[in-house]
Amino acid sequence: MDYLEIVGGQKLSGHITISGAKNAALPIIAATILSDKEVTLTNLPNVVDIRTLLKLLSMLGSSVEHDNTVAHINNGCMRSTKAVYEIVSEMRASILVLGPLLARFGECEVSLPGGCAIGQRPIDLHLKALESMGAQIEIKGGYVHAIAPKGLQGAKIIFDKITVGGTENTVMAAALAHGVTTILNAAKEPEVVQLCEMIRDAGVKIEGIGTNELTIEGTGGKPLDFQTVAIIPDRIEAGTYLCAGAITNSSITLNNVNHGHIRASIDKLESMGCRFDLEDNSITIHPTEHLKPVDLITIEYPGFPTDMQAQFMAVAVLAQGESLIEERLFENRFMHVSELNRLGANIWLKGSTAAVKGVKELYGADVMATDLRASSALVLAALVAQGTTKVRRIYHLDRGYDDLEGKLSALGANISRKKEA
Ligand code: UD1
Repeated sequence: MDYLEIVGGQKLSGHITISGAKNAALPIIAATILSDKEVTLTNLPNVVDIRTLLKLLSMLGSSVEHDNTVAHINNGCMRSTKAVYEIVSEMRASILVLGPLLARFGECEVSLPGGCAIGQRPIDLHLKALESMGAQIEIKGGYVHAIAPKGLQGAKIIFDKITVGGTENTVMAAALAHGVTTILNAAKEPEVVQLCEMIRDAGVKIEGIGTNELTIEGTGGKPLDFQTVAIIPDRIEAGTYLCAGAITNSSITLNNVNHGHIRASIDKLESMGCRFDLEDNSITIHPTEHLKPVDLITIEYPGFPTDMQAQFMAVAVLAQGESLIEERLFENRFMHVSELNRLGANIWLKGSTAAVKGVKELYGADVMATDLRASSALVLAALVAQGTTKVRRIYHLDRGYDDLEGKLSALGANISRKKEA
């Protein structure tokens, strides 16, 4: 198993390019199932999760040509509609094939994703929405069996809770349904917006893109013909590198960013004393001698993203004063706390809130990555910890960060990938 060895204390400088967004690419890859013609995707991030979902499409019989950032997918030759446990258990987001498979083929079987390190993460809202559209769903043998013999029907769906994946699955299902679907309390994350735009550009009438109310006029079963899609920049990767600049008191420039998408992270870093220069598609963070503490609550977009919580906690560890960080989306998303404390942080947990008392220094140690974003928080802390930190179980990082050690090395960090003996 690989681990990362980081010798802390280097100042960073220079510029790097942000990759395409994993969380935008995954639903877009799933949406290609709505077509029986070739679809080209560009600016894909080179990460394991993308390869896993493309592998699932290949297993279903599709033709997939993938070369780092570009994929040509043709689902015209798809011959199976069963997403097996072996793939879904590797990546929960495989559940995103449920809506499009059911919409295009009228039946499918998708393994239940099961629990996850950061919380229970049920899919009840996905299933309820599809049932409202006429699907008959049975859970048996660890699989969701869904059929819609007469095709899916447009419906009015009100989500009890805002769900990114639930909204995406429903939008994809609605695109080929008979009649009009209205989704109330829809998610409006940039990744949901790009999925809606892709489907709209294929000729489906969608109103309310980027709002909490979406209206989708389905094609009545007719497959879509997509244009080439260039995946939007990854707002979480960009936020993570801004945190790297903040924690190491460095000046770094990120290219290929959408400022609007990272507004919440910029605002919080500004409140901690960081300064930025924004240009067309790039952002520069300047050195910050004295980091101020921060109070933040994770919430749906455009609020502060749960996917940036761990990285901000790492920065808050070195702020002068006490920060309060409340996690509202996932009940178990604090696994990085004990690992950060092993590096010398002073963090106390009470329910869903972490109190972070700033310390002057961190010290390198062996730490264990527990989930994707928790892993990057440990890497950030290691960049400033005195001595050597070994971050183990980095397969979590490889799921979602494109060439993390290459990009950090290019900025001057002392980081290398090693193999366990
Ligand atoms: C997506 C992102 C993930 C991010 C999360 C929240 C992808 C591939 N992943 O995950 O990185 O952290 O949004 O921004 O895009 N819920 C239910 N029932 C459901 C569905 C969700 O109770 O059927 C709950 C979840 O447990 C959670 C909340 O709703 O508490 C939000 O989850 P959701 O927005 O669905 O997250 P994902 O789409 O899984």
